[in-house]
Amino acid sequence: MKNIAIMFSGTGSNMESIISKSFYDKLDVSFIAITDNPQAEGIAKAEKYNIPVFIIPAAVHGWRINTVHEAYINDLLNGKNVDYILLAGFMKIISSNIIERFKNRIINIHPALLPSFKGKNAQKQAFEYGAKVSGCTVHFVDKGIDTGPIIAQRAVYIGDCRNDEEVKDRILKLEHELFYSVFKDIIGNRFSISGRRVMKND
Ligand code: GRF
Repeated sequence: MKNIAIMFSGTGSNMESIISKSFYDKLDVSFIAITDNPQAEGIAKAEKYNIPVFIIPAAVHGWRINTVHEAYINDLLNGKNVDYILLAGFMKIISSNIIERFKNRIINIHPALLPSFKGKNAQKQAFEYGAKVSGCTVHFVDKGIDTGPIIAQRAVYIGDCRNDEEVKDRILKLEHELFYSVFKDIIGNRFSISGRRVMKND
């Protein structure tokens, strides 16, 4: 059994996709959900599947989580014996202590083909730049922002999108497929890493 913490801040559609598919496939996993946002829509989604949701106490100001929040998160990760952390739209920067402790065990999904369009509003960035192709990237988290080793990517044509919402919708569908497929391989220990290169073993 692998213990998984999913961290999210908003809608939680990637989280729901992973939880529901895992249940359907009867994967040997147990989830907890952690959010920094007490108003997040994703809370109800997790609770629908009886996943315990932990809300990081007090508003988290700015982009970085502070030491109090870090202690709270650390206690949860230790107490629940967490093996992997999935960042599914978690809008805060994870502290470097946690990143070091969970080296190559924190996985993020980003709605663009990295290294293009890092950071916030990646779909809008791609649309406004005039990119014809964008997509999503699942990567290990390192201390940079959207810079960790790339595990998998999927691309989609966006040249005919009329606004960034259309780009978002198109990419989100891919995110749900890609994140779950990587997740299954992660818990099955199917990746090896050499420098920045992540290889899938047969
Ligand atoms: C997704 O686009 C994800 O790539 C990004 O934040 C968004 C979260 O969406 N990191 P949701 O909450 O999973 O619906």
